Amino acid sequence: MPAIKAKSALLEWYRDNARELPWRSNRDPYRIWISETMLQQTTTTAVIPYFERFLLRFPTLQSLAEAPSSAVMEAWAGLGYYSRARNLHKAAQALHENGSFPKSHRELIELPGFGPYTSRSVSSLAFSESVGVVDGNVIRVLARVMRKDWEWWKPKVRDEIQTYADSWVEGVPSNEMNQALMELGRTICTPQSPSCLMCPLQKHCESLKHDEVLLRPQPKPRREREIWIWEPHLTIRNQRILLSKTNEVPFLRGQWLLPGSARRASKKPKTFDYRHSITHHDIYVTVRPAVPKIKKDDKWVRLEEIRQYVPASLVQKALDHSSARVEQLHARTKRARSSSRK
Ligand code: ADE
Repeated sequence: MPAIKAKSALLEWYRDNARELPWRSNRDPYRIWISETMLQQTTTTAVIPYFERFLLRFPTLQSLAEAPSSAVMEAWAGLGYYSRARNLHKAAQALHENGSFPKSHRELIELPGFGPYTSRSVSSLAFSESVGVVDGNVIRVLARVMRKDWEWWKPKVRDEIQTYADSWVEGVPSNEMNQALMELGRTICTPQSPSCLMCPLQKHCESLKHDEVLLRPQPKPRREREIWIWEPHLTIRNQRILLSKTNEVPFLRGQWLLPGSARRASKKPKTFDYRHSITHHDIYVTVRPAVPKIKKDDKWVRLEEIRQYVPASLVQKALDHSSARVEQLHARTKRARSSSRK
């Protein structure tokens, strides 16, 4: 449990140093919800102009609920993660229909787009519910102050962190304490160059005592990359390209692809036509000539239609690498068209 003195020092610091941000001007749950949704994975400075424009365009919950979705998407354009905007709109409609804003995180979490973070930040910042808010900044601050080597990406550990965060808001105004922890993480206890000499928690920071601040939080292990070799066959007949539904290429299972074979490798091949990456797969591709055997479920597709069937960039690159063959196909298609018009 954090010492009372640590909590008081942090709150005092926050009261003296809190930045004036447009969503802090009052405790309107609508404004807080919009800002907290925008602030996920984005810096405060970047969010301010978006927030102000959004609030001018949709000043009330009702105006957002009744807006066409194209207007909401347009106001969001540039912030990224567009599913957040779609959920925001859906939740506004549900909240408007409901007639009031639920005050507890347990009710809020039922709404579209309200995860553990958003529901707790709204219930605490707008309604003072005594719950801790856990985001990346808070995890960093708590891991350092409490000297915890949390594997924070694991759900069970997240529950443990939530319990610690809850203990920080116990007996103090949760809206201030949660914002103080987030603000400290954003401005002082930063990932690479924390300003420990200016930190209100320096006397309480166990990592600082052990000169281990930069060791925490633990980095999330990167998923090991897999090397794959894919040898697609480019088979062209009667102005069409042969596609096959793939089951053997795990990263594209069930999709239409050029027929061919794929295998996992321990190192990158010495020669290949091009490389393509899909999630954690690095795929080294060598385009082969026409397939020797056509399977009964294979499909012949016109070049112009190919984009409707296949993962565009991977196959497009294969076509580019076989451009001489594809150009012949184009030329033949054009000739066939013009002679049929004659
Ligand atoms: N990050 C996300 N929400 C915040 C808030 N209300 N104050 C400071 N940092 C934040």
